[in-house]
Amino acid sequence: MSKHTDSTEHRGSKKSDCSSKKADKSKKADKSKKADKKKHRKNDGAGEVSRGRVRAHFLDGETGPWAKKLAGESSESAEPTSEASEAATNGASAQSPQVRRTDRQGPDYTAPTSIDIVADPVLHAISTRRSISKLGPETPNDSDLRELIRAVSSVADHKGLKPWRFIIIRGDDRIRLGEALDEAGDVHRKAGEINEKPLRAELLLALVASPVDNPKVPAWEQHATAAGAGHLLELALWQAGWGAMWRSGTLANEPAVRRLHRLKESELLMGWLYIGAVPERYRQRLAHSTRPLPDPEQFLDTL
Ligand SMILES: Cc1cc2nc3c(=O)[nH]c(=O)nc-3n(C[C@H](O)[C@H](O)[C@H](O)COP(=O)(O)O)c2cc1C
Repeated sequence: MSKHTDSTEHRGSKKSDCSSKKADKSKKADKSKKADKKKHRKNDGAGEVSRGRVRAHFLDGETGPWAKKLAGESSESAEPTSEASEAATNGASAQSPQVRRTDRQGPDYTAPTSIDIVADPVLHAISTRRSISKLGPETPNDSDLRELIRAVSSVADHKGLKPWRFIIIRGDDRIRLGEALDEAGDVHRKAGEINEKPLRAELLLALVASPVDNPKVPAWEQHATAAGAGHLLELALWQAGWGAMWRSGTLANEPAVRRLHRLKESELLMGWLYIGAVPERYRQRLAHSTRPLPDPEQFLDTL
């Protein structure tokens, strides 16, 4: 913990007078925000418990080398091998302006890595996530959803505009969604028939991007943040043992569907996460799955 604080202070001491005044101001603002949060916390026992859990999660050293530093641990397994450290040092100097090479073509994969996507539980969850199209009827309750959203709220967000939200759709609200989709698609059914698509899961979460006007953050960046929240939530659900599948369709932003979700003009419906239990049969399949991950090199290049 102390290391983290030290490095923050160190960075602060390098700033000019002007920026230190700004820093003073923002410190004051931070203080009053913190006081507000304290007040809020008093009424929010669940939040306090979760914060404790989150801290324990960081301190158990399972979340990466930087977390081990926070915990003040000197676990040998966290330290990169001497070979890896040497390679990292060489890599850093190779990128410094003095020795920049212009003939470099593509990434350099000769340096060894200390990343283990099987042993690291977070990386393992990320790399094994699957969409589950046929979901069992059990669902996380709304309190579970609140905790998952608490976790997901770390999503990268330029200027902290929080341009996203989810709408919970359960029970007969799914039938209303089917009716709105029918109206949007001009589908007319026989009496007693309903659109069963939204009934493919007991719980749907509509993801809404809510961009605001900001001179520094264009709408596309805010949509990217909202999409990030959607992906993080899929992952958080997966890690918590739930199945999910993100579905959209061409009608998501038709007037009837937007009306049902009470969207503002500026908002965009990014689709629905269909959520439920991972059926046992599917679990067994997953356990023995040999679906390879795509070649990562196709996603990585240099200038
Ligand atoms: C924004 C978004 C919308 C999607 N909409 C649909 C959809 O309407 N129907 C569908 O079959 N898959 C849709 N998908 C894809 C599935 O959610 C899923 O990613 C895909 O089937 C691949 O499976 P996997 O996630 O296990 O790799 C969508 C994905 C995203 C990110």
